[in-house]
Amino acid sequence: MSLTPADLDSFIAEDLGLRAGAHQLRSRRPLVPLSSTHVRIGDVDYVNFASNNYLGLTHHPRLIAAAEQSLRRDGLGSGAAALITGHTATHAQAKTDIARWKGTQDSVLLPSGYQANHAAVQTLVALGEKSGGVRFLIDKLAHASLLDAVRGASAEFRVFPHNHLAKVERLLADAPPNQLQVVLTESIFSMDGDAADLAGLVELKQRRPFILLLDEAHSSGVYSARGADISVVTLSKAMGSIGGAVCGSTQFCAALVNYGRAYIFSTSVPPWVAAVASEAIAVMRDEPQRAARVRSLARRVRQAVGLNGDTPIVPVILGEEAQALEASRKLGEAGLLVPAVRPPTVPKGSSRLRITLSCDHTDPEVEHLLDILAEMKRQLG
Ligand SMILES: Cc1ncc(COP(=O)(O)O)c(C=O)c1O
Repeated sequence: MSLTPADLDSFIAEDLGLRAGAHQLRSRRPLVPLSSTHVRIGDVDYVNFASNNYLGLTHHPRLIAAAEQSLRRDGLGSGAAALITGHTATHAQAKTDIARWKGTQDSVLLPSGYQANHAAVQTLVALGEKSGGVRFLIDKLAHASLLDAVRGASAEFRVFPHNHLAKVERLLADAPPNQLQVVLTESIFSMDGDAADLAGLVELKQRRPFILLLDEAHSSGVYSARGADISVVTLSKAMGSIGGAVCGSTQFCAALVNYGRAYIFSTSVPPWVAAVASEAIAVMRDEPQRAARVRSLARRVRQAVGLNGDTPIVPVILGEEAQALEASRKLGEAGLLVPAVRPPTVPKGSSRLRITLSCDHTDPEVEHLLDILAEMKRQLG
């Protein structure tokens, strides 16, 4: 006899109960955004060290004005997929602006970075099917959306140890002669805040040809990475809004419009999202002090927790899930919102605090965070 909906519900209750027992249950808390760096949960206000709003653009008056103007001009939604009637003049302008900003021939705008990664991978798989096949080499710490994309496309893939270019080279050396090799990695890793060895990859490409698909979700707007053949950027993090874009050659973007199922079979982003993307690029150009400040705050925090560099994602690795949850709770008591990131998002035994910085954090807010972290460290001995 097949399962009833009630059977399914009791199966789910049992499964989620196990997750809760392992401190891995995920849930949401409704919050009220108060500003680019402050939120209210219940009746408590927090400084938000959990958002990817690195440049504070979520609340930038110029972006809000651009959205309002587009809303009045273009309406709310785009009403159809891009290949039907969802590609407005505002979308066309945004894709040109994004490509110019990234220094690529063209770009394609999608509803999310997640979909952008899927569409890029689907396009490469479709092209591989018409030639000698394709194999993806994916960094072990690369984002779930890249792995899901490869798995979802039933593509051949190999995972290489994090940033292990010697292993990548060995895999490339073993590749069948006509098979397209695609290296998938991130410019700034989302949970560790460290960087891909882009110079090493570019150098390797001279010796062993491959396509470099770089997920720039966390570096777009904060750094300008160069060297990728295909870049995926998100508009949802430093750029303050929502959406993603695949940036590459004219030919690759034309292929994506034809073969990227995540693009073809989804309604295009609302025109106001496209308008905001163009405005975010203009603001980033006009206000470079935003990226400079978030990087300088990041350097300060990273130094304090014993890390080099200036990327605004700062992991504080604590080990077990319960420890990370307890640390997050303590910071919360001090009015600081810092999430505990646990498996399966990060490997078992590496549960952590994930602190993210914004240029809009004030110096006293950052000092307060550092004081609490230092206090917690003393208590741990
Ligand atoms: C590295 C990375 N790639 C892609 C994505 C997906 O981007 P989006 O949130 O715009 O769907 C994320 C978002 O969490 C990410 O961290």
